[in-house]
Amino acid sequence: MVEVSTSILSIKEGEESSAFLELEAAKTDYFHIDVMDGKFVEKDTYQKMFENASYIKRISNLPLDVHLMVENIKEAVDDFLAIEPNIITFHLEACKSKEEVYEMINYIKDNHCKVGISVKPHTKIEEVYEFLPYIHMCLIMTVEPGKGGQTFLTDMVKKVEVLKKQVEEEDLEIDIEVDGGINLKTAPEVKKAGANVLVSGTAIVMANDFKVIIDELKK
Ligand code: DX5
Ligand code: ZN
Repeated sequence: MVEVSTSILSIKEGEESSAFLELEAAKTDYFHIDVMDGKFVEKDTYQKMFENASYIKRISNLPLDVHLMVENIKEAVDDFLAIEPNIITFHLEACKSKEEVYEMINYIKDNHCKVGISVKPHTKIEEVYEFLPYIHMCLIMTVEPGKGGQTFLTDMVKKVEVLKKQVEEEDLEIDIEVDGGINLKTAPEVKKAGANVLVSGTAIVMANDFKVIIDELKK
């Protein structure tokens, strides 16, 4: 069953609270919180995402899917644990060693939170294989991380297929999430390839009726 995690990054300033309530009514499965530190990626959304996530936590029971695009993972994990996320996903490329990857996986899990690893478009999917048995989700970026509204990178479909095959071969219970440029046109390809959690921002928040898009993405 496919789930939708709506990225709140592109919601217009001042329209956040009405959008969050409308997204909840439209039955998004998660709120996707894009945390950027201005170092791992150019934009800095850190404070804004913390405030938005804190607000969502107060008005909704829906789970928070936190996507860390930061250099200092541990500091961001410490900060965002406060909003009791359902899952915290960090970038493989932000880790300087395999030991650090395992350290971050264990740190997040020791704080009673699910953990995901995200890979940028140019990172080979094989680089995440050894960590798969220890994580709950792998996030394949289908755009270069850093901003919403970008065009879907079609050669990421193959990457999803390869990961899906690996997960099946190892008989792992792990979600495959895709993020970036996911809309009614690109969703069928990534679902067929094996993605079961779709992050979508612009395609949903720019629509008149969020529910129509969310329902269509889930089909
Ligand atoms: C990009 C973020 C994505 C992005 C998705 O760095 O990780 O979550 O906001 O937005 P759209 O769906 O507009 O590409
Ligand atoms: Zn994201």
